[in-house]
Amino acid sequence: MEQVIKIEGGHLLNGEVRISGSKNATVALIPAAILATGPITIVGVPNISDVESLSVLLNELNVDVIHKSQDHIIIDPTNMVNKPLENRAVTKLRASYYFMGALLGKYGEVKMKMPGGCYLGPRPIDLHLKGFEALGATIDYVEGSYHIKAEKLVGAKIFLDVSSVGATINIMMAAVHAEGRTIIENAAKEPEIIDVATLLNKMGAQVRGAGTNVITIDGVEKLDGCFHEIIPDRIEAGTFIIMAAAAAEKMKISNIIPQHLDSLLSKLQEMGVKLDVDVDSVTVERTENLKAVDIKTLPYPGFATDLQQPLTALLTQTTGDSTIKETIYPERFKHCTELQRMGANIEVGQGLSVTHGPTKLYGDSVTATDLRCGASLVIAGLIAEGVTEIHDVNHIDRGYDDLDGKLKSLGATIWRETVE
Ligand code: EPU
Repeated sequence: MEQVIKIEGGHLLNGEVRISGSKNATVALIPAAILATGPITIVGVPNISDVESLSVLLNELNVDVIHKSQDHIIIDPTNMVNKPLENRAVTKLRASYYFMGALLGKYGEVKMKMPGGCYLGPRPIDLHLKGFEALGATIDYVEGSYHIKAEKLVGAKIFLDVSSVGATINIMMAAVHAEGRTIIENAAKEPEIIDVATLLNKMGAQVRGAGTNVITIDGVEKLDGCFHEIIPDRIEAGTFIIMAAAAAEKMKISNIIPQHLDSLLSKLQEMGVKLDVDVDSVTVERTENLKAVDIKTLPYPGFATDLQQPLTALLTQTTGDSTIKETIYPERFKHCTELQRMGANIEVGQGLSVTHGPTKLYGDSVTATDLRCGASLVIAGLIAEGVTEIHDVNHIDRGYDDLDGKLKSLGATIWRETVE
């Protein structure tokens, strides 16, 4: 028995959708909260299964998680104990690796299984580990578990060969209590990194430069509880903006920071999409005859890899050939095979896809092989003729807060069914 999402295509969307708190910030903020000695209140928490998985891990560590309301949690690490993280929840998401930096930073020791997450091709964590080593830790990998230990963490200068989001955040967390100054060079600049640095600083840390490619952390003795509101999810926002360009008559996407979406918005404008950008919202109006575009995914502020998959569904409707060069995850093209089942004409090469458009899409039975593939298939389903049945929706539920509910309120015909 399996739950699937079904979408009847061809119904134009109308109205307003409110974007939830950022998934990729949340999954780092929750592990970061354990660095405090008192309760951390976080609001704007998205209702996604990754948060549930992280809560399971917090409970393993004897950290209290109190749900004040749907999007408001209190994480209280007062009675926390450092235990090996071997629960299955570790393998459910990539971001469980943030417990490495947080536990190492707090206790000088961590034991945990290999993290999981979406398969997007190889996703090494060598830079995280090199960073920990530079701070004085030793690393053993035995029978599928990491054992990372440091007698004492001492600040160091760390150059990241690749500007990795995960490594930047993990090293920041490991360094907050290290003796002296840590400097991360070629740090990633994603807005989620600023959000984590903001939380750490509210707790009493000394993190400077987040959002630039050099981050400096001066070690402090103690971190306290605080209040934090998560930034809006730029990838959920981008997904709905693309959805609006594909399937809406007029749609307002609100509670966003438009600057975080500059690279997407300028590409959509190049395609001919009618956009009205306000202070914290974007309104998209129906446009016919969209033009093909070429895209290269890059670290922020370049075009986000997480949005190339949803965008591909829209590119099937544009006139001409659109090329996507994927420089972050060259194998992140599983959605193309699924879109092809629906009638798309896409060629996939090494680190590259070429979408020939426009092509009519038809509802079919397809699989969300990963989170953003799922988003791409939902967009395709909205514009396809007939009913699209999406399998493995657990991937979608990992990262989109109430996607079906939000779409229903915009006029989509979408529902869930349990099938054999
Ligand atoms: N990389 C290494 N070594 C490392 C770490 C990364 O070579 O130790 C490489 C990766 O293979 C990749 C590049 O560096 O080529 C960038 O990876 P990064 O570490 O920045 O990715 P991540 O932190 O694992 C986060 C998001 C992803 C998003 C990427 C890129 C979270 C939890 N995940 O992953 O989000 O695609 O940054 O922006 O923040 C998603 O939301 O669907 C998603 C996959």
